[in-house]
This record gives sequence, structure tokens and C-alpha cells, in this order.
Amino acid sequence: MISLHDVSTVFTTGDADFTAVDRVSLEIPRGSIQGIIGFSGAGKSTLLRNINLLERPTSGRVVVDGTELTALGDEELRRARHQIGMIFQHFNLLNNRTALQNVELGLKFAGVGKKERTRRAQEALAIVDIADKAGSYPARLSGGQKQRVAIARALATEPKVLLCDEPTSAVDPRTTASVLQYLSDINAQLGITTVIVTHEMNVIKAIADNVAVMEDGRLVERFDLAELERPGFEPATAIGRYLISDDIQLDRAPRGNAAQRAAGPNATEELSHA
Ligand SMILES: Nc1ncnc2c1ncn2[C@@H]1O[C@H](COP(=O)(O)OP(=O)(O)O)[C@@H](O)[C@H]1O
Ligand SMILES: [Mg+2]
Repeated sequence: MISLHDVSTVFTTGDADFTAVDRVSLEIPRGSIQGIIGFSGAGKSTLLRNINLLERPTSGRVVVDGTELTALGDEELRRARHQIGMIFQHFNLLNNRTALQNVELGLKFAGVGKKERTRRAQEALAIVDIADKAGSYPARLSGGQKQRVAIARALATEPKVLLCDEPTSAVDPRTTASVLQYLSDINAQLGITTVIVTHEMNVIKAIADNVAVMEDGRLVERFDLAELERPGFEPATAIGRYLISDDIQLDRAPRGNAAQRAAGPNATEELSHA
């Protein structure tokens, strides 16, 4: 569903070049949940933004659902982006708009008419059980409610892909569990391919099918979460080994129990503070 071929992103500040994403190749299967984990500064957000070209890679190719985004012109890219929803750590809602208006805005940019906009925005709010807050401004919503509005906004355009940048890093563990449960249910019920960037171990374990480990801009290792159950499985990298180290309790509950798993004994365990 998503193919990254040798993607690099180099930032130039003054006369120094800095490689934030270093020749990353990654295949993300349709309908899966791909986790990307690493310490702060590893290049996770930049790589995520490379997928929808919010940050255009310096080199390499990005293919989403058979379309090479890196080959598209501005207008085509704008249209292709409606297939890709995104949510952020700090929700990125407009404070002077109600929940409903925030969700409608994305549809407006997608060229959807007013009546249809309202209907679809209400529908999207209902998916995350927050239709009753349609008329509320963000200031009146809790962190978890704001993130649900942001999820509704991302879903309203009926995307095939949902990109999540530290979606639970600004909320408490209980709210983390709830947000992950919604993301897990949305993936299962709507079949939306999901990429979730995080520095939190419990998030990966609760929700991901596969995890890619990033370090200094490079993708240093990748494995299926099911691998953790294979006797003798040993990640190749230090961060990878941290994932399965003794002091982290693994919960084998099947997907769909994300809330329960995320709220487990290690719910606040983190690799680092972003
Ligand atoms: N627009 C930018 N200009 C210059 N450097 C940047 C820019 N965006 C990110 N970086 C640098 O790239 C590195 C990776 O950043 P980021 O992708 O945000 O990492 P992460 O999300 O893993 O914390 C960091 O060192 C950051 O300072
Ligand atoms: Mg980041």
C-alpha cells in the first residue's frame, strides 16, 4: 500500500547539511498498522511527513496505493493527498472553530459542498463517539476529545491511509488507551492502512502489526510483532532488544483489546521523552 524507495531528506541550515532521513526503504502492506519507533530526533516525524510529501524528500520515491506521489505535479498531488489523513501530537485543531467546523474544513478543501460536508463531518464525529460535542470549541474539550475530533477530521475525507505522529504523547495513559482503541477499531473496520510514529513502547505493543526502528535517520531494523512470540527471536539492534527486554511485560491479547493492553502495567513506559 505504501512503498518508500531509498527516501532521504536533507535539511540545509546555513551552509551545513543535515540528513534527517537517510536512504529509507519500507513496504507497508494494505490494511496493516505499521509502527515506527525511535528516540527523539531519529527522523520519525520527517519520514512520516515524507509519506504525504508534507515534507518532500530530497531523493527517493514514495508510492501510495499504486501512485508515485514523488512524480506528481502540484494539482495532482493535492488531490492524491485526500487519500491520506493525518493526526498529530498536539491535535492541530483551529481554536476559533467548533468540532464540527474543524472536521468540515478538511472536506471544504477537498471541494465537498456545504450540505454534504455537514453530513459527512457528523458521521465522522459519530465514528469516534463524539457527535455530542459537535458544537463545542476545542477549549471546552479534553485532550482525548480533541484527539478524537482530529481523528474524525482525518477520517471525513475517507482516506485509505492514516498517518499518526505521536498521537498519544500529549494525553494521559487512560486516554492513550482510548485513542489507541479507536485507531485499532478504525483500522479493523474501515481497513485503513495506518502508520503510527511513537517513542512509546506500549503504543507499539498495543496496536502495531509491524515495527520499524529508526536511529539517526536510518531504518535500522524492522520486524513483525508476532516475531516476539517466536522462541529465540532476538532483535539486531539495541533499541530493538529494548523492545523485548525482561522488564517489559508482553501482553499477548489479540488486536481489538488495545485499550486493555495499553492500560496495562507498563502503560507509561517510554523510550525517551520527545
Ligand atoms: N525543517 C527542518 N530544518 C532543519 N532540521 C530539521 C527540520 N525538521 C527536522 N529537523 C531535524 O531533523 C532531525 C529529525 O527530526 P524529526 O523527524 O522531527 O525527529 P523525531 O520525530 O524522530 O523526533 C532532528 O535533528 C531535527 O532537528
Ligand atoms: Mg517527531
